[in-house]
Amino acid sequence: MALVLPDLPYAKDALAPVISANTLEFHYGKHHRAYVDNGNKLLAGTELENLAPEEIIRKIAGDAAKAGIFNNVAQAWNHSFYWKCMKPGGGGKPSGAVADRIMAAWGSYEKFVEELKNAGATQFGSGWAWLVLDGGALKITKTANADTPVAHGQKPLLTIDVWEHAYYLDYQNRRPDYLAAFIEKLVNWDFVNENLK
Ligand code: FE2
Repeated sequence: MALVLPDLPYAKDALAPVISANTLEFHYGKHHRAYVDNGNKLLAGTELENLAPEEIIRKIAGDAAKAGIFNNVAQAWNHSFYWKCMKPGGGGKPSGAVADRIMAAWGSYEKFVEELKNAGATQFGSGWAWLVLDGGALKITKTANADTPVAHGQKPLLTIDVWEHAYYLDYQNRRPDYLAAFIEKLVNWDFVNENLK
């Protein structure tokens, strides 16, 4: 099977109160699992079956006839990446190489946060906010629905899921509050630095 539901890197209640165990029960246990299961069903018996998820995403991005496969495979990939972008007691100012790169690109941590929040808040409907490497440069970007920087030749460094299922049980319609709490209290900067290597 091409897609695997990875173990969460922490207990389901470890991110509370920023993200509740209840949210993770649904988001990881139902939504992510459904992308994996549906993706594997759609991939079974096709020429894509034995490829890595990243290869599938690059190969079929923009192919309308394969949109169903793309959506499930990309969502499976995006979620596996998203869980690793958080840790209990994370967030706040970064350290290491990414801190220097953020200063060079945005001039201050505060400006970076403003732009990341803005990307997440202005993604109309479902989608994702990202910090990516694009041609060697750090960029903040956003994608709609299942779309992913992996499909666009960019290297994801950090993501925030802004689908309502990521925050609605804890924040209802207050997406900006979820974004602020995620950035202040959850970001796993060690993982971001690993991705930068
Ligand atoms: Fe999600």
